[in-house]
Amino acid sequence: MANGAGAICSRPVTEPLSGPTGTANPPTSAARDIARLLAGIAAPTAAIPPKWFYDDLGSRLFAAITALPEYYPTRTEAELLRAHLPAITAAAPVVGGTLVDLGAGDCGKAAALFPHLQPRDYVAVDISAEFLAGCLQRLQRLHPQIAMQGVGTDFSERLELPPSVPTGRRTFFYPGSSIGNFTPADAVAFLASVRTHMGDDGALWIGVDLQKPRTVLEPAYDDPLGVTAAFNKNVLTHVNRAAGTDFALADWRHVAFYDSGPGRIEMHLEAVREVRVRWPGGGRSFARGERIHTENSYKHTIPGFREMLQRAGLRTAGHWTDPKGWFAFFVATPDGTA
Ligand code: AVJ
Repeated sequence: MANGAGAICSRPVTEPLSGPTGTANPPTSAARDIARLLAGIAAPTAAIPPKWFYDDLGSRLFAAITALPEYYPTRTEAELLRAHLPAITAAAPVVGGTLVDLGAGDCGKAAALFPHLQPRDYVAVDISAEFLAGCLQRLQRLHPQIAMQGVGTDFSERLELPPSVPTGRRTFFYPGSSIGNFTPADAVAFLASVRTHMGDDGALWIGVDLQKPRTVLEPAYDDPLGVTAAFNKNVLTHVNRAAGTDFALADWRHVAFYDSGPGRIEMHLEAVREVRVRWPGGGRSFARGERIHTENSYKHTIPGFREMLQRAGLRTAGHWTDPKGWFAFFVATPDGTA
């Protein structure tokens, strides 16, 4: 992992903190990740975790998704923030504290808020430290008064932060409804891990996509232009490069549907013919019609999400929704009674 931001940002990009200690030949976290990826592909019900979507092209395809007319979450959340920023900030002020941006990507969402929020420190957390480095370099020039650091870490299981993150008041910014990738139980565990990093005076600002008719949901994940299909299939290109598999993209088709029971969009890749996939040391066959599960995107309700926050030791200080009730933005603070 490159450490490119170190020279420009006030603090260096940090390696993930996890990893075994004291083992003779511990596998690197990257090697363990590949082993788990291949185990998921070999499993009877094949799955690839959604974090594998986001190689360079995948990140660009996701950005294209957010520009689609059918993909309402990004623009609905942006309008929500624009309309209610004074009230949201009043519920949990950031000024002079640390803004921790979870899944920062190009840091654009947080950066747009800097003039209003005025954090003293900005900590961009994302799986791709390299990508963060370039963005932070540009941002630092625009906002020289904010101390910036990038943290390259995979927080899809739990959040770990390096000691370089200031211990003053921390506001965790988790927009975009990325919490939807977690099952409700895993989301509560993740929110509880955020709570442990929050101290007693911190806050969580979080965007949450809401349940709505499938006639709105399904086109958002299966757009007629085929951008989401390309985003989904690109995961195979990334996996081929990372793990040495030989997936042929033409063998697979994009499948996305809403399951109103658990309240989630599921995305899959479905074999259009019988397929044999090989990789160093292994391989498997897929029957025609067999699927690889690539993503869940849970949709919540206001009371349901409030209860999840509660179970994670957080109380809802405020929540805001758009006029259609499609998306919600919550501000939560540590629950003194927990
Ligand atoms: C980045 C997880 C919020 O679930 O809407 C978009 C990812 N997948 N289209 C979402 C995604 C297909 C997105 N999140």
